[in-house]
Amino acid sequence: MRSIKDETNLNQKKVLLRLDLNVPLDNGKITDTTRIDKILPTIKFLLKSGAKIIILSHVGRPKGKVVNELSLKPICEDLKNKLNENIKLISKNIKEVKSTDLFNDYDEKIVILENLRFYEEEEKNDNDFAKHLASLADVYVNDAFSCSHRAHASISKITKFVPSYGGLQLNLEINALTKITSEIQRPITCIIGGSKISSKINVIKNLISKFDNIIIVGGMANNILKYKGYEIGKSIQENDCNEVIEEIFHLSKKENCKIIYPEDVTIGKDLNGSSEIKELDNVSKDELILDIGPKTIKAINLLIEESSTILWNGPAGYFENPNFAKGSIEITKKIIEKNKNNTIYSVAGGGDTVSLLNNIGATDNFNFVSTAGGAFLEYLEGKELPGIKALN
Ligand code: 3PG
Ligand code: MG
Repeated sequence: MRSIKDETNLNQKKVLLRLDLNVPLDNGKITDTTRIDKILPTIKFLLKSGAKIIILSHVGRPKGKVVNELSLKPICEDLKNKLNENIKLISKNIKEVKSTDLFNDYDEKIVILENLRFYEEEEKNDNDFAKHLASLADVYVNDAFSCSHRAHASISKITKFVPSYGGLQLNLEINALTKITSEIQRPITCIIGGSKISSKINVIKNLISKFDNIIIVGGMANNILKYKGYEIGKSIQENDCNEVIEEIFHLSKKENCKIIYPEDVTIGKDLNGSSEIKELDNVSKDELILDIGPKTIKAINLLIEESSTILWNGPAGYFENPNFAKGSIEITKKIIEKNKNNTIYSVAGGGDTVSLLNNIGATDNFNFVSTAGGAFLEYLEGKELPGIKALN
């Protein structure tokens, strides 16, 4: 992979910079800016090299439609303030933007195109869409490690049409994860939570042979509880998961990997409401499982105590409401305690997990914190990510 930091001749070149500015938003307000802060060095490097920057990113999952709440506007504002530069957000249909529309002002150095996922061609890895994006610039840089597991037009197909490079943050994350996986110490425990059930449930199968314990919390745990015959009420869940869950339990026996899922839960009547601890056979139809319960916390902490490495992606509950943050906070506390004694190597990753750790001021107590969640898990599977493959 060619790295952009080795490129000496970028003066006045137009650079398409693919970033993952998919930050958590609450009513149009950014609740955690880590993914923005991490790529500031790349932008500063490009500015210093005299390049003209066209930023590309997605936010959320608008599924090929313009969704005003998922505009890059708040992100553009945050970048403007942090870089002290004038940045133009181009809201015009990306498919109609021409290279000659950009940088007509001599002073203009950075523009940002609107959410790539407003166009269905992006997730389809569409050839013409990728070619069109590529036509806007001289050089392409992928500094979006956290979405490099997606074979999308701006990540994968685009490298066919323009000289392509890895960015500073992408290099940093790959180097760190390469080192971590090559030096990893057993017993290894992986905690997988969060709300993206469909993206992660298939990854688990491939992680079973590599780890000693896999702890399933968050949304995915609901599917397991349902599979085990428990009522999960109105909790988030994915359809048609029973076959893969069966495979997970089968493989785990074969590979001697322990699968841990909730023994008790914390429920609410709605996301913003109060919480109540419940036994698994006591959840009603009108309730939502929003966190793990105290028995589960205890079981998880015992496993962390016995582990030499902990890899964590995805919160244990809906931590955005403090009533459902206890599971994630107690797990964090236990990891920190072991980390302070130097008896564990801890890695956490993912937009929401990073936001959680920042919220409770725990980020510095982990050995490595990756911006990547899904990409981090797929990297752990050992396969080459589509976005990385496209650069190689
Ligand atoms: C992430 O937050 O993991 C990346 O931005 C990718 O988002 P996605 O899971 O919607 O593809
Ligand atoms: Mg995310």
